[in-house]
Amino acid sequence: MRRGSIVRITIYGVLAGILASVVAVLVPWLPTSASEEMDRIEFTFWFTTVICIAVFSVVAAAIVYSVLKFRVQPEDESDGPPIHGHTGLEIVWTAIPAVLVTAISIVSAVVLAKNDDAGPNPLQIAVTAQQFAWKFEYPGESKVASGQLVLPVDEPVRLTLNSVDVIHSFWVPEFGQKSDAVPGIQTTLVITPNRTGQFALMCTELCGLGHATMRAHVRVVTRSDYDKFLANASAGASKNPGETVFTTAGCGACHAFTPAGTDAQVGPSLDAIEPPGGKPLEEFIRESIVNPDAVIAAGFKPGVMPKTFNQTLSKEELDALVQYLVDGQKGSK
Ligand code: CUA
Repeated sequence: MRRGSIVRITIYGVLAGILASVVAVLVPWLPTSASEEMDRIEFTFWFTTVICIAVFSVVAAAIVYSVLKFRVQPEDESDGPPIHGHTGLEIVWTAIPAVLVTAISIVSAVVLAKNDDAGPNPLQIAVTAQQFAWKFEYPGESKVASGQLVLPVDEPVRLTLNSVDVIHSFWVPEFGQKSDAVPGIQTTLVITPNRTGQFALMCTELCGLGHATMRAHVRVVTRSDYDKFLANASAGASKNPGETVFTTAGCGACHAFTPAGTDAQVGPSLDAIEPPGGKPLEEFIRESIVNPDAVIAAGFKPGVMPKTFNQTLSKEELDALVQYLVDGQKGSK
């Protein structure tokens, strides 16, 4: 090959490489990482991307050079020369990709193993998914449960996920990892948050009419703020058990209720409940929780609200929740 050809091929390759690198670097493909696991995933992405850009540059250079150099001349009606391949080239373009793909596999396997390893003593938080809310139960004597996830920064956490009805999926984009919550089995997810801040948890498994609203706040805070949150939450729990049930059972994910500060509109507002046919308010509220399709408010559909609260709430919890809703009616005080 002449020296001029080699220079041209090199220029095409460098240009293709620059173009691909600009697309890779300037487009924000991934959210900014907030966990060690996501950092490792990002490393894997970049490792693979650099290899892809190199392969793309070589292939693009060969194509552009061939198209320009071997273009058929006007008036040339002759057949091309018969070609029987090139054993040397074929060995090279098989061996090099084999090595690269093996390297990507090894890096991915190491990252997967590390991202599943929470170390000897992780914080264990139980996550319960249900249509259409998340509940988080924290370790420790106080038995704190909440509808938002609060995590101390720089500490490995092992979430144990469970579902009471259908399959849901736990995903916080900034944490990188994702895991299904499946009824009947327990799945786990390891997170080591390394940046404080507010993040959004979303359900990523189509789980019913309220799927799109099945979100929760995630707060990553310092260890002392985490301890404060646990202390406040356990103090709050003893103050109004009804409010605690409202929060942890996820009522606020679908219903507006002013005393709880929620404004969702998947289900009817609970601020001014009007029992049909002169039924006592307390009885109507209780029936609507355990048998939600018995009476459907105008403008709403049956089958949306889970029918599982009779099983998932204890009698005390149900009593507390009914009382909380009765007390919170507009004009009752
Ligand atoms: Cu739960 Cu989608």
